[in-house]
This record gives sequence, structure tokens and C-alpha cells, in this order.
Amino acid sequence: MSKHPNSYRAEPVESIAGTITVPGDKSISHRALMLGAIAEGPTLIHGFLDGEDCLATRAALEALGVKIYKHALQPLRVDGVGLHGLRAASKVLDLGNSGTGIRLMTGLLAGQAFDSELTGDASLQQRPMERVASPLRSMGARIDTTDGKPPLRLRGGSKLVGLDYALPMASAQVKSALLLAGLYAEGTTTLRSPGPSRDHTERMLTSMGLQLEQTADGQAHTVSITGPTTLRGREISVPADFSAAAFFIVAACIGAPDGLLIKNVGVNPTRTGLLTILREMGADIELEAQRRLGAEPVADLFVRQSELRGIDVPPELVPLAIDEFPILFIAAAAARGTTRVSGAEELRKKETDRLAVMAQGLTALGIAVEEQTGGLSVTGGRMRGGAVDSRGDHRIAMSFAVASLLARAPIDISSTAEVATSFPNFLDVATDVGLKVRPGGEPQ
Ligand code: S3P
Repeated sequence: MSKHPNSYRAEPVESIAGTITVPGDKSISHRALMLGAIAEGPTLIHGFLDGEDCLATRAALEALGVKIYKHALQPLRVDGVGLHGLRAASKVLDLGNSGTGIRLMTGLLAGQAFDSELTGDASLQQRPMERVASPLRSMGARIDTTDGKPPLRLRGGSKLVGLDYALPMASAQVKSALLLAGLYAEGTTTLRSPGPSRDHTERMLTSMGLQLEQTADGQAHTVSITGPTTLRGREISVPADFSAAAFFIVAACIGAPDGLLIKNVGVNPTRTGLLTILREMGADIELEAQRRLGAEPVADLFVRQSELRGIDVPPELVPLAIDEFPILFIAAAAARGTTRVSGAEELRKKETDRLAVMAQGLTALGIAVEEQTGGLSVTGGRMRGGAVDSRGDHRIAMSFAVASLLARAPIDISSTAEVATSFPNFLDVATDVGLKVRPGGEPQ
């Protein structure tokens, strides 16, 4: 893959328009690879996200002996090796920038007969892993972290047993890692979440023939899996990533008087908290042609410019919009009044501390921001141009590119190379709708 530019210059633009498609869903692409790898028979993945995060997971599975093929215009094919068909890798598995990659792989590898070592890039090496390692140890796994972070060392040959576990936070990564380990465990693994989180793993496991028990009682969500069990390989169609569409949804709210159409977007309700928040702020968003694509709901999104107003974002929506806060803060900068986000401490544990990095960037552009432990208050206002550092966080880089619809002078964004982890053709799609975002001038 050609290297993505490590800086952008985003020139001010008045408006955008058009019809676009954004790349395949990152969460679903990771899961399709991992579940396909341990299923019986082939899994064909249509619309796989060819971003660096998912490619790192693909390389890790190949190092564990799984054959994965891609021929032009054909779906990605994963030849499943069955639950016990993975083999020891001869190298450390490097999951790059991906929290989903490393946490889910840890769950998958915890019950294997062989040892594994997992690591990632400088950002991933700062991210908390005890949230998966600790409950996995309670299931019988032997895992060493490095001060709670990667690199991780997993010792093979442990017999896993089911666990009844109350997750301290609504995290799809923790839930999914434990569900994957639960496939290998004797007995039932029950996971109790304090709120809903994305349910792609549950949907895909069910579509591969597994019976899960799921209950919801108010905010409390419980899922149980009884192992050991086998999965059937199948054909999986990956919808376009709602979290990639989010940049253009907000861009259109700010500056698409004639509307912008985004095709074939995944609208799983555990992902679309941003739509609820933006509509509350006054956004004009229509879901057209709602349908199912395999196990997931999809729709075409038609978004038209509207007057946004600041709101207090209900904290229970945070897990349903967890990846969308960088771009939501840009919407807040465009809104009349103040938008307050609270209960979002988890944002400090993403690819960067997203509360701090967004607060710094918005402040540099003249927007009034107050930072709290668990959120930000952003007051809409005139945005000037200037320099912002995305600190290698793909979603922050793309968010400030969209801010060029608000700014009066160019925005120079540094450390943008990681955009290739989730949205490798972002610059092309941005150009298609009329944004003027180009590789920056400084040395890469
Ligand atoms: C993801 C879950 C979320 C999200 C991440 C992808 C997943 O993380 O932020 O980008 O694919 O399960 P948490 O579950 O840690 O909140």
C-alpha cells in the first residue's frame, strides 16, 4: 500500500455535494477475518476494509497458519482451519495501531495449545490491556502484560472455563475478546455490560450457526455463550463503515445545501448514536432504502445542511457513538450555543486522549472549549485557520479536515498517516464531495 501523506492542508470551502461510498466497516472486517479463520470451511468476505488495522489482523492470522486469498474484484477468501487448527506463529504478532485487533486476538489466542506474543505501534503500546487480560486470567488463561499494556505474552495449553463477569464499562472489545475465549471454554461464559455496545460479534457468531443467549433490561445487557463449539464458514457482506461515513454526515450538516448521499452505510443501532445526537442538535438526516445486508442493517443516508444548536449529550449515548466524538466536536463548533459531553472518560484511552487532543486543536483554531475529566464543553463560534496536531489519531485528522467548512483560513494538520488505518482513500472521497484537502508541504 502506498504511504498515506503525514500532513494535510485543508483550504476553506463553502459547500459540498454529491453521492459517495465510504470503505467497509472496520469492526466487522476484523471479526470476519477472525471468525472466518476458526470456522469450518471457507468464508468469503465482500467489501472487506483494506485499511492498515485490518491488514495487520490478516497478517497475524496468516502467521498463525491461516490461508487468506485476495484476487482482484473477488471477495477476500479465508480458509477456516477450525477451532483447533491455528498453529504457533514463528514471530511476534504486530497488530499495528489497532485496539480491536490486539484485544480480540488476545481472546482468540488465550485458549490455544501454543504460546503467543502480541504487540503494536507506539500508540497501541500505551493502551490498557488488563481490561481483557484480567477476566481472561479468571477463565484460566496465563497472560503477562507489560505494566498493563502491550507487549503481551500468552502461555498456551491452559484449559479455559466459563466465567460470569460484570464488565466495568460498556466495551465491545472486552465483550468480544471474552466471547472469543468463551468459544474455547468449558461451560458457559456470561458477560454483563452496564450498557449496550456494538453487537457485531454476536450477530456474526449467530450467522455462523452459534446459539447465544442475549437479554437487555434497561441499560444492562447480558450475553452468554456455551463452549466449546464450532462455527460454519459463510459469505459475509461488510456494509460501509458508519464511523467513516460520520465525517461526511457532519460535513453535510455544516455545508451541503443541496444534500449529500452516502450509500450502503451500516446503521446497526449500537453504532448510530451520532444520528440521535445530531438530530437532537437540529440535523436533517434521512435514512433511505433501509434493508439488511446479511446480519447487519444498512441504509443510504441523505444529509442536508441545517442550523445546528448546542445540546447536553445524554451520557447513555456515549457507547453508541464512541468513535464519533472527534467529529461531533466539530459539529459542536458549528452549532449555536454550547454542546456538553460528559461520561466519556473512555475517550482518553483511544488511539490518543481524544478529549485532550480535540480540546487543543479546537482551541488553536479559536473555538472556546472547556475540558473536564469525562468530557468537553464546546461553544460554537467563528473558526480561524491554523495548525493542529492530530498526534497520529486517524479520526482526529479527518475531523479537522472537515473543519475546513467552518474555518476562514487554511488548517494545517500534522501526523495524518494513520488515516490509512481506517479510511485509506479519504483524500479521494473528500475531493469528490468538494473539500480541498491535500497532502501538506512539510517533510513527511
Ligand atoms: C470497537 C469497539 C470500540 C471502538 C473501537 C472498535 C470494536 O472500542 O472504540 O474503535 O470493533 O469492538 P471499546 O469497545 O473499547 O469501546
